[in-house]
Amino acid sequence: MQIRPATAADIPSIMQLERPSATAGHWTEEQYHQAFQRDGATRLVLVGAEDSATSPAGFLVAQHLAPEWELETIVVASTFRRKGLGKRLLDSLLDAAKKTNSTAVFLEVRESNVPARTLYEKTGFERTGRRKSYYTNPSEDAVLYRLTLP
Ligand SMILES: CC(C)(COP(=O)(O)OP(=O)(O)OC[C@H]1O[C@@H](n2cnc3c(N)ncnc32)[C@H](O)[C@@H]1OP(=O)(O)O)[C@@H](O)C(=O)NCCC(=O)NCCS
Repeated sequence: MQIRPATAADIPSIMQLERPSATAGHWTEEQYHQAFQRDGATRLVLVGAEDSATSPAGFLVAQHLAPEWELETIVVASTFRRKGLGKRLLDSLLDAAKKTNSTAVFLEVRESNVPARTLYEKTGFERTGRRKSYYTNPSEDAVLYRLTLP
């Protein structure tokens, strides 16, 4: 599996990965297009694919809010889960964040999202708080995580 920066040409594949996932954030096509434009914030969109001819099996979107990064969404296709792709995407974000001399990466996640929370904790993220009823449909608390970069 190769990790590479996404381009706007990957948007249809990214949306196909995101749509069936109940726990992923859902963005409009317009929002994904904005992620590839300089709209004031710098975004990093990474995809993981078997090779350059194959549709991505996973992706990640992060926003650079200097001196920190926010992980906004990470999704791996259900048929590719538990094969290490989510961890590789996350590690690639951490590498990119270190290269921008950033101090930390932070994120929020549904409390019940055990796969994602386990991935974050395994990668070194620490719980920093909770936002009551942050999510809707269904209503649920958000758990906040932060990883301080060396
Ligand atoms: C969260 C997600 C991206 C993980 O992707 P993945 O490629 O399956 O993760 P990895 O294979 O790299 O797993 C790395 C580690 O995370 C943990 N983990 C991943 N899935 C897990 C699960 N279902 N249950 C428990 N731990 C899990 C494990 O510690 C795992 O290591 P191990 O397989 O050696 O035990 C994937 O489950 C997903 O796309 N979920 C739906 C979208 C979502 O909720 N995204 C997060 C919010 S935006």
